[in-house]
Amino acid sequence: MHSFDEYRKTINDHLTDLIPYAGEEASELCDAMRYSLMVGGKRLRPALLLASCEFAGGNAEEALPYALALEYIHTYSLIHDDLPAMDNDDLRRGKPTNHKVYGEAMAILAGDGLLSTAAEIVTGTPIEYSDDHEKMRNHIKAAHEIMSRAGARGMIAGQTADIKGENMEPTADLIRFIEMHKTADLITAPVRAGLMLAGCEDEMLERFTLYAGNIGVAFQILDDILDIEGDQALLGKTLGKDAEQGKCNYAFVHGLDAAREELHRLTSEAKEALSPYGNDASFFTELADSLEIRKY
Ligand code: IPE
Ligand code: IPE
Ligand code: MG
Ligand code: MG
Ligand code: MG
Repeated sequence: MHSFDEYRKTINDHLTDLIPYAGEEASELCDAMRYSLMVGGKRLRPALLLASCEFAGGNAEEALPYALALEYIHTYSLIHDDLPAMDNDDLRRGKPTNHKVYGEAMAILAGDGLLSTAAEIVTGTPIEYSDDHEKMRNHIKAAHEIMSRAGARGMIAGQTADIKGENMEPTADLIRFIEMHKTADLITAPVRAGLMLAGCEDEMLERFTLYAGNIGVAFQILDDILDIEGDQALLGKTLGKDAEQGKCNYAFVHGLDAAREELHRLTSEAKEALSPYGNDASFFTELADSLEIRKY
């Protein structure tokens, strides 16, 4: 196992390696894709994938393409989330949003390009292992995990409920649906995919699924809290957007104190799920603690 900073460095060093170049005619597409990838970001999701794979005894080098694909999908989701037709944001990762720099058409295409490149990566990589059937099977399972949680049953379902929920009186169930899908699915996907690549057993997969779902929902609750009382300079996003757009923000419905309590409860449950592994799982339990107090 490595530290979070080491995983982040590996990801940053290789993040644009798999961006395709079709020729001068489409070079602006590459620029727009690279811009949002390299403008910043915590790299939480790809780091989780590499760490989960190593935790289960897998090889992080083999897992790297999937980690990069995950960050491509996450970055595309942010580019599209920021578009005027969605959340209409000008600031992301402390810099102007993709459409502010490249225009709306190119931002849509950059998102499409990142998503389809991710699909290309996760379907192309298993082919390299076609002479080792067990390994190829593990790779295909991981690929399916990533694409299905990114898709219309996963992150896109959450984004749909988020948009449809604007200016509605949200129920607690609707809020939880949104958190689980728009955010927790893209945090669960890398954890499960990393374990699957290593061919882990069912019990470990179940425990880590519980861990990831809990830190995923907690992550969105804190995102909602930070939208209300964060520090814009640290956060790199415009504050107060959720109130302005009548979003289903956990803290609007339940209050800030209850949001903090729920954040703490979910973080504790996440760590509890990994308790049988003791110190061996300290990467994940310490990460859960650090996410609970993150400022950005
Ligand atoms: C932002 O995700 C979108 C949400 C799901 C709340 P991150 O807070 O992980 O964004 P980056 O990658 O660090 O910019
Ligand atoms: C977005 O949630 C989650 C995505 C799938 C991109 P938000 O709309 O709350 O994320 P931010 O606050 O813009 O990062
Ligand atoms: Mg949104
Ligand atoms: Mg948004
Ligand atoms: Mg938000």
